[in-house]
Amino acid sequence: MMNIPFLDLKSQYRSIKGEVLPAIEQVLDNTAYVLGKPVAEFEHSFAKEHGVRFCYGVSSGTDGNHMVLWALGVGPGDEVILPANTFIATAWGATLCGAKPVLVDCDPFSFNIDPAKVEEKITSRTKAIVAVHLYGQPADMDTLGAIAARHGISLVEDCAQAHFAEYKGKRVGGLSVASSFSFYPGKNLGAYGEGGAVATNDEALARKFKMIRDHGSDRKYYHDLHGHNYRMEGIQGAVLGVKLRHLAAWTEARRKNAMLYGKYLADIPEVSPPREMPFARHVYHLYVLRTSRRDELQKFLETRGISTGLHYPIPLHLQKVFEPLGYKEGDLPVAEKAAKEILSLPMYAELGEEQIAYVVAAIREFHS
Ligand SMILES: Cc1ncc(COP(=O)(O)O)c(C=O)c1O
Repeated sequence: MMNIPFLDLKSQYRSIKGEVLPAIEQVLDNTAYVLGKPVAEFEHSFAKEHGVRFCYGVSSGTDGNHMVLWALGVGPGDEVILPANTFIATAWGATLCGAKPVLVDCDPFSFNIDPAKVEEKITSRTKAIVAVHLYGQPADMDTLGAIAARHGISLVEDCAQAHFAEYKGKRVGGLSVASSFSFYPGKNLGAYGEGGAVATNDEALARKFKMIRDHGSDRKYYHDLHGHNYRMEGIQGAVLGVKLRHLAAWTEARRKNAMLYGKYLADIPEVSPPREMPFARHVYHLYVLRTSRRDELQKFLETRGISTGLHYPIPLHLQKVFEPLGYKEGDLPVAEKAAKEILSLPMYAELGEEQIAYVVAAIREFHS
């Protein structure tokens, strides 16, 4: 029996150990523990790769989500529209500003926010829409952008799962007024600890990002704005700088693996592989299929040594913490149905064709 983990960070580390250890050593030799040259260099390269003018390394994607809305002036009494089908950190961006998350159902094929259901949620208090490029597939940005423009509200991106993903040939991160990224270790571009970034093409907003990240200051001990300590660590900047050079190849490998899964799964009618939207270049942070006997299949795959995941088993509107928002079961039916049918298969650059064939053979065996 093969043993196939959901994610294999060890084999990636082995492949770059010779590059990454000297980079870390240099940070230690220079005692550049917080921000510093490796972080600045990484920010520059990362911005360039995403076609965006300004990028700042921060302490996590969650902190990035908070900073984006904070810098836009979102505060108590405001509402922020975001998808119900996402990781909860998308909503923390709003709640940390004291604003109310307003949750929207998803599209059944892309699993991203359904733009057709956004406009009915806009009120006089709505300040922003957060587009999440879930699983690595860009949301329908043009449609969302048109809605935001019509109502004079901001559109922002949560790119935590979507480094290098493309919408109509353009990389995410600069498709809206401001965006955030996560470099949590399991992400397509992962640090060796916590990390994130914020990005924008707007110079005034960029200045706010830089200051909020560092106690509202751009001159030591002069604090012109409210802020926080959301700085990136030097070691994370150095690791990310090394890994960024490999990301294009790793992304290609993920896409190849997704194609192989799709090819092998094609003759199993009980499961629906993920769909790449016509406007999207999906980077497959997660390979999420749909199937009606999801729980049984997941248990069966476990007996065959295959680890899978659920992203996410409970949509945000049904989370206990959001009970005060007053949603009930049935309010967002597409997301609720998806939550019961989705299953994330092992997906990473180092996954081989033999392993993919083994996973699909087990899925076939379950249905035979
Ligand atoms: C969609 C989404 N947003 C935000 C985050 C938060 O990122 P972090 O874990 O770096 O705080 C994550 C991942 O954890 C995520 O998947």
